[in-house]
Amino acid sequence: MATNITWHPSLSRRERNQLRNQRGLTIWLTGLSASGKSTVATALEQHLLHLGLAAYRLDGDNVRFGLNKDLGFSEKDRNENIRRISEVAKLFADASTIAITSFISPYRADRDLARELHAQTSQDGDEPIPFVEVFVDVPLEVAEQRDPKGLYKKARAGEIKDFTGISAPYEEPANAEITIKTHENTVEECVAQITNWLSAKGYIKSEVKN
Ligand SMILES: Nc1ncnc2c1ncn2[C@@H]1O[C@H](COP(=O)(O)OP(=O)(O)OP(=O)(O)O)[C@@H](O)[C@H]1O
Ligand SMILES: [Mg+2]
Repeated sequence: MATNITWHPSLSRRERNQLRNQRGLTIWLTGLSASGKSTVATALEQHLLHLGLAAYRLDGDNVRFGLNKDLGFSEKDRNENIRRISEVAKLFADASTIAITSFISPYRADRDLARELHAQTSQDGDEPIPFVEVFVDVPLEVAEQRDPKGLYKKARAGEIKDFTGISAPYEEPANAEITIKTHENTVEECVAQITNWLSAKGYIKSEVKN
């Protein structure tokens, strides 16, 4: 544990957001494998970038291959994976960027920790970083039928253990800000559902262009 460390005050988050003309926040996608998290996250990121907003996606590839390459899939490592992702999302959001995370994050306690870490950012009297939980809701049968990476097939064959939805639980969110159903709506409709919600909250202006 580091001691003798001092937090250097800088511009407040509010001032930074005003200067950047953008509110930083975290959009946390959660759902079964193949529910469409990465697909929607990518389309959402592109949409926001085209509006002239800073947005950045945190996904398995850029996190597990780098920052978290020392972590496996034990319960302890999964918790640490989510904790680090939350902290990194917070840093992006603190820098007035829209951080979009797309991880299965099957445990309610982990998602609640991510939410709590964001809520704590109001402790210094500054505006808190909003945490927007998006439940990518799809029946298991649909996800299993899609199976774009062949993971369900392997899990059914017993080649992957502790696979969410098959041999490990997925705890559905009870209070997600947004629920999208990718088996009923197109990718574009799902993206619009999220951006409409963000606009209604005043987190983004609908047609921002700098
Ligand atoms: N409306 C939709 N929204 C998102 N994905 C859709 C939709 N309709 C069909 N799909 C398909 O569903 C699959 C979703 O795969 P994707 O990799 O995005 O899932 P994921 O939730 O990121 O899974 P994992 O947790 O394994 O990374 C893709 O093949 C995508 O083309
Ligand atoms: Mg994915």
